[in-house]
Amino acid sequence: MLRKVAKSAVLTALNAYDKRDGALQPQSPSAWDMTVSDVGELCWEGNSLAALAERFGTPLYVVSRARLERDYREFLGAFTALYPKVEIGCSYKTNPLPGVIRAMHEIGASAEVISHFELWLALRLGMPGERIIMNGPAKTDKALELAVSNGVRLINVDNPDEIATIERLAAKYGRRQEVGVRVVTSVGWSAQFGLRIGTGQAMEAFRRMKAAPHLVPCALHAHLGTGIHDAGVYFTAVTEMLQFARRLRDELDVEMRYLDFGGGFGVPTVRPLSPTDRKLIDNGFQVKPPREGLAPTTQEYAQGIIDRFSQYYDVASPQSPQIVFEPGRAMTSRAQCLLLSVLALKNGDRSSEYAILDGGKNITIPLGYEYHEAFVANRMKETQTRRYSMFGPLCHPGDVLFKHRDFPKLVKGDLIAIMDAGAYFVPNQMNFSNPRPPAVMVSGSDVRVIRERETFEDIVRLDAI
Ligand SMILES: Cc1ncc(COP(=O)(O)O)c(C=O)c1O
Repeated sequence: MLRKVAKSAVLTALNAYDKRDGALQPQSPSAWDMTVSDVGELCWEGNSLAALAERFGTPLYVVSRARLERDYREFLGAFTALYPKVEIGCSYKTNPLPGVIRAMHEIGASAEVISHFELWLALRLGMPGERIIMNGPAKTDKALELAVSNGVRLINVDNPDEIATIERLAAKYGRRQEVGVRVVTSVGWSAQFGLRIGTGQAMEAFRRMKAAPHLVPCALHAHLGTGIHDAGVYFTAVTEMLQFARRLRDELDVEMRYLDFGGGFGVPTVRPLSPTDRKLIDNGFQVKPPREGLAPTTQEYAQGIIDRFSQYYDVASPQSPQIVFEPGRAMTSRAQCLLLSVLALKNGDRSSEYAILDGGKNITIPLGYEYHEAFVANRMKETQTRRYSMFGPLCHPGDVLFKHRDFPKLVKGDLIAIMDAGAYFVPNQMNFSNPRPPAVMVSGSDVRVIRERETFEDIVRLDAI
């Protein structure tokens, strides 16, 4: 009993602390380059989201081509201002909508693939082999054969068994295949990924690759995690990789052509939910949006990484290695939102009223572990007078989108825009008794369907019925 009272007092104090400057305010739509029309509708590139929902129905993904381009150019530009040989590979897995991937390639990104299907898709989208980098913890022989036979530029080895397979395939196709190793540093993801620098595994892999006549060992790859908001993690990993590259040169006479620092960069508009957030939510409190300055800027990353790089390589020399990044979230998260309609409203609990939406957990998996902004896209000028918990249509107790957020008083048919739906929404989605949503891409007044709404027939297309 005493524990319960103490816990409630702590949570109430925490909640009061969060609101010390007044009620929690949502982030501004300008963070996604959105505007609000005179009639209070949320707009992207001049297109009213309410009008798009009316035209295409909901649930609906909307992608802004201008925002994709902005995030790509700003990220790349921050690095190339300091060092010209920097390249961005589009992380297919982060947002596997072919329309988005194609746009990323048109804007300038190369391809970073992690499965046989993704490699096939890159080739299907017309990417030449020399613009594809192949990663992944489990490359099948068939996938490697497709890669080698199509002249994929770089294959980053994730386990020692791959080395012999790639050597055999390179011999078969009369190629000398550029290869690297996904390394594990003292920070970031490890487990089933990569080979550790610290244990000597990565060095051993380079020794074997160097002895293979059809392989050109020339790259280091790392990927530290996703949604990372701590630049120090990158700086540590980059330093360890640079030190290892020097050892490879000194001990094996192996020179790096590529240093691939992976993806994982968080965006300022999304933050992971902490254990404290979860306690607050469970006890009926609203949790706060990401604070300003949460994510280091791209300039801070660029400065920190290139400063370290320049201690090992001459930034003015064309012989210095190409730096590769594979940022998925930082490229596509903010360029896509998900539109859902309010299907029903009902009395809720002590803390919130309930709204049932037409899209649920099956298409919003990241809402379970991250804070994403949500707007009532058709009534942006109204004040937030009510607190709601929002649920999907799945007839499953876990079908909760989020709890205890303030909105204007909702009515059936209102349009909810879930922001930052461009990373890990699409790859994680599943049917769960419903068709998967279509996607449209807006580019000024040009509005294009890049994925049709799945039909009921589509859902059972592969079944014997
Ligand atoms: C190897 C690799 N590269 C790039 C990415 C993209 O990560 P993010 O979307 O966090 O930038 C991932 C995602 O986990 C990955 O596994």
